[in-house]
Amino acid sequence: MATTDFFNNKIVAITGAGSGMGRSYATLLAAQGAKLLLSDIDEDALTGTLALLCPDVSTSPNIASMVMDVSNPEHWLAFKQLAIDTFAGCHMLINNAGIEGAAQPTWASPPEQLQRTMDVNFFGVVTGCRTFLPLLVAQEWAALVNISSIFGFIGTPNASDYCASKFALRGYTEALMVELAHVHPQIQVHLVHPGGVDTDISRSHRTAKFKRRFLTTPSDEMCNFVLSQVQDNNPRIIYGNHAQKTYWLSKILPLTQLRKLLAKGLKLVDQDDYRKDHNGFK
Ligand SMILES: NC(=O)c1ccc[n+]([C@@H]2O[C@H](COP(=O)([O-])OP(=O)(O)OC[C@H]3O[C@@H](n4cnc5c(N)ncnc54)[C@H](O)[C@@H]3O)[C@@H](O)[C@H]2O)c1
Repeated sequence: MATTDFFNNKIVAITGAGSGMGRSYATLLAAQGAKLLLSDIDEDALTGTLALLCPDVSTSPNIASMVMDVSNPEHWLAFKQLAIDTFAGCHMLINNAGIEGAAQPTWASPPEQLQRTMDVNFFGVVTGCRTFLPLLVAQEWAALVNISSIFGFIGTPNASDYCASKFALRGYTEALMVELAHVHPQIQVHLVHPGGVDTDISRSHRTAKFKRRFLTTPSDEMCNFVLSQVQDNNPRIIYGNHAQKTYWLSKILPLTQLRKLLAKGLKLVDQDDYRKDHNGFK
């Protein structure tokens, strides 16, 4: 049973705290008395979150923040140093920052886009784990929360780079959780698979229809659920619009049937990209 003061005085680092779920985690945890290390690549967005939390952040002993790009390992070292200098450590890292990716078919998406999506959504999290685990190891209780997606279970059209990054993150985190359970069992590892959550992740005009139709679960509701599951030490957290259904269909359907089902997603994309006479990879 979740309690309302579980995170009181816990030191929690959150990436992508300027918007959507990152902002929700920050506000929910602040309400529980957590000490927060907040970061985002978007300075204005981060300032917006800080303004919500506290009228004068410079005088708040419970919040520290910095602008960072999770794909930059040097920024991670600076974020870790911020944790040491401000709170002398960290109990929980929420690897939340992410981007939607190309939102285009594989043939229309340049290799640089795949690289960027992997650098942020996958390698950004890997570097975060590697940088913060020494801080988490030093605590009697600690948690690592990696945000994958239901697109870590299924490959959908117009999202090959995003799906690749979220599948990779799932594989990495599942392996890490087995390893850590043996050597550092006090560190809980959580793999989160949100369904459609109402945030600003779909910034491209190409995903506008998808956003309206699927991104419906309120962000605070999603993050409240995740935090309750961290309290319960549930390693796999699946929640949000279409999440459970997608998970189970990905488990039980043969790929030939799953492929047909996922092709329904083609109704939501630019039809010109999928004309029968389209050049594709030619
Ligand atoms: N919204 C959904 O339906 C949904 C579903 C499944 C998974 N997710 C995942 O949840 C996480 C949070 O996404 P959201 O929906 O709240 O999106 P969002 O766009 O509202 O918030 C993401 C935040 O990450 C920041 N960010 C982007 N690139 C960054 C970088 N390189 N370094 C640091 N910060 C960066 C953005 O500035 C933004 O503030 C992401 O990992 C996303 O892939 C979202």
